[in-house]
Amino acid sequence: MRFIKLIIFLVVFQLNAQQGGMWIPSLLEGMNETEMRSLGSKLSASDIYDVNNSSLKDAIGHFNGGCTSEVISEKGLLLTNHHCGYSQIQSHSSLEKDYIKNGFWAKSFEEEIPNEGLFVEFIVRIEDVTEVMLKRVTDDMSPREKQSQIDKNRNAFEKTIEKEDWQGFKISPFYKGNQYFLFITERFEDIRLVGAPPVSIGKFGSDTDNWVWPRHTGDFSLFRIYADKNNRPAKYSEDNRPYTPKHYLPISLDGIEEGDFTMVFGFPGRTNEYLPAVAIEQITQKVNPLNITIREAALKVIDANMKEDDLVRIQYASKQARIANSWKKWIGENLGIEKSGAVTIKKDFEAEFLKALHNQGKTAEYGNILPQLENLYSEIEDINLKRNSFSQVFLVTNELMRMMVRLTQMEMASEKGETAFEKARDRTINQIRSIHKNYSVKVDKGVYKNVMPLFTDNIDASIYETTAFVDLERSLAVLNGEMREVVTKLNNDPAYIYAKPFVLDFYQNVDPEFKRLNTEINALQTQYMKALMEVMPNQRYFPDANRTLRVTYGKVNGYSPRDAVYYKPVTYLDGVIEKYVPGDYEFDVPEKLRQLYENKDYGDYADKNGKLPICFLGTNHTTGGNSGSPAIDAEGNLVGLNFDRVWEGTMSDIYYDPEICRNIMVDLRYVLFIIDKYAGADHLIKEMKLVHPKK
Ligand code: ARG
Ligand code: ASP
Repeated sequence: MRFIKLIIFLVVFQLNAQQGGMWIPSLLEGMNETEMRSLGSKLSASDIYDVNNSSLKDAIGHFNGGCTSEVISEKGLLLTNHHCGYSQIQSHSSLEKDYIKNGFWAKSFEEEIPNEGLFVEFIVRIEDVTEVMLKRVTDDMSPREKQSQIDKNRNAFEKTIEKEDWQGFKISPFYKGNQYFLFITERFEDIRLVGAPPVSIGKFGSDTDNWVWPRHTGDFSLFRIYADKNNRPAKYSEDNRPYTPKHYLPISLDGIEEGDFTMVFGFPGRTNEYLPAVAIEQITQKVNPLNITIREAALKVIDANMKEDDLVRIQYASKQARIANSWKKWIGENLGIEKSGAVTIKKDFEAEFLKALHNQGKTAEYGNILPQLENLYSEIEDINLKRNSFSQVFLVTNELMRMMVRLTQMEMASEKGETAFEKARDRTINQIRSIHKNYSVKVDKGVYKNVMPLFTDNIDASIYETTAFVDLERSLAVLNGEMREVVTKLNNDPAYIYAKPFVLDFYQNVDPEFKRLNTEINALQTQYMKALMEVMPNQRYFPDANRTLRVTYGKVNGYSPRDAVYYKPVTYLDGVIEKYVPGDYEFDVPEKLRQLYENKDYGDYADKNGKLPICFLGTNHTTGGNSGSPAIDAEGNLVGLNFDRVWEGTMSDIYYDPEICRNIMVDLRYVLFIIDKYAGADHLIKEMKLVHPKK
């Protein structure tokens, strides 16, 4: 009997372990630790997170607030994705020094390039602060009263936080605001570019292969953290020196095989795993199609111009990638939601929830949450779509309109007086400068003609002939002078006259109404989360991603996307050569790499069958922000670099289906091979600690 129970227990654990989840590193003891061991991990919870001793978490840095990176040498060498360092690589590139096309390798510390504004943040410790944050917050309060009590608690608490002068902190809500955690942070601001492969390796396959398996991309780049003479965070200075980390990841030369344990440690951005079915329907049937259409209209123009003109190709490389990435993701998300039957599954789950409420006599307490959510989602739909189309057109795709949004905000600030105006003007000038750093009027006007009809019938492309803002010097001239004068000049500019009514409508009507309804929705989601955990306590609940440090784990595993089709979990250099299209902008392969392939000159980096692995798949539950996260083996060594998910599984942000959701990692052996054999940068390899855990 006991034996059978044990078997059942193990089976349930095995199945559950494949169900995803992104866990809080300081709370792994117990369920997660056991589950990880059942998958083959030899790590203890304190190997991963420890406050008093160095642990894996000390090697994991939040890269510029949007990606993840990890320290891989005692001299602060930092690994992240090529696409995470893309705007830095791009910003140092020109027609003469085309680092995008040719790659970049610093041969010494002196050649490493500083990056203004770039930062990397580490987590020193994590504390549960739910009690202080929710003090005197009661169920009978309105959402607004609750929020104001929480703000009060936060203000009082912030004054008492114990930390060193050079450290920062962050308090974030978890489980929809049912829990709060404090993060003590260390932010380094002198981060220099060390190396990047050419785009034909770092972004091999480009948009065609993005979000797709099988994949053959060497999506990595290298940076270095510099610190002051006390090894503490500091602004850029020539006197800074390479940072000595508390921990850095050893790299395994033995790699992975199907079935091996992996864990991904990083900063996932945002997921929404506890939405009601109505919300998923709204996203997939209304919001995604709208946003896909607008981005597609912009991409048509940008892509055509990039192919035609080398300067535009460099100028728009990073912008294009940003627009195309979510565009393609949303298409995959819609397909996955459909294929997995997520809406029906959620509806069944909701029925189960209602039944549990009934059985436990809690219908009076929680029974109106779902009906209320349904009403609110239908109420918010129109305004939600308006808000999305404004943001896709005015903030994401069209650059002249983005300038107009910033300028309108500046005029709004001027109504508050000189000081507010001056602050807003400085900010606006910076924003306009940064847009003009890489700006083509021809491209932007083309984008305008394509996207604006999707927002309004009022189209006037002639504003591009007459506005000052297509030119940086003329823009700055308008912004120069005292407040009244600037506002008058601004209101005579044709693009401003055209755009201002749309922008004002957005800020005065659309956005406030959206926020009002959204606050109500959020309050109900908080209650829904609480009710779920109370009445169905045996489900696995992990907190939605919120840009805080998380652990996710699983196994190296293939998948079956369609009937009779099975995708193996590892790709090889042979596949790069299979995809090779000479001269193609997505699938060209550098000659040197082809030669290394011909000669099978793989150094120490081939697998035991003599093949060079490129990418592999795992069942780790990841999302945007996990890019650049380390994939760590059973003993804490680096084996992979996370950078993407498979097409069929991009819906994992809303619904994680263990059958088809997989994350994609670059095999570290390919990274080392490129650094060593392709780039000849073996001085970097010498800094690292290479290990053979399987021997
Ligand atoms: N899809 C991946 C992520 O969401 C990788 C994007 C970079 N690659 C590219 N071809 N744009 O960010
Ligand atoms: N590519 C994503 C990133 O940049 C990761 C993902 O969405 O899977 O973070």
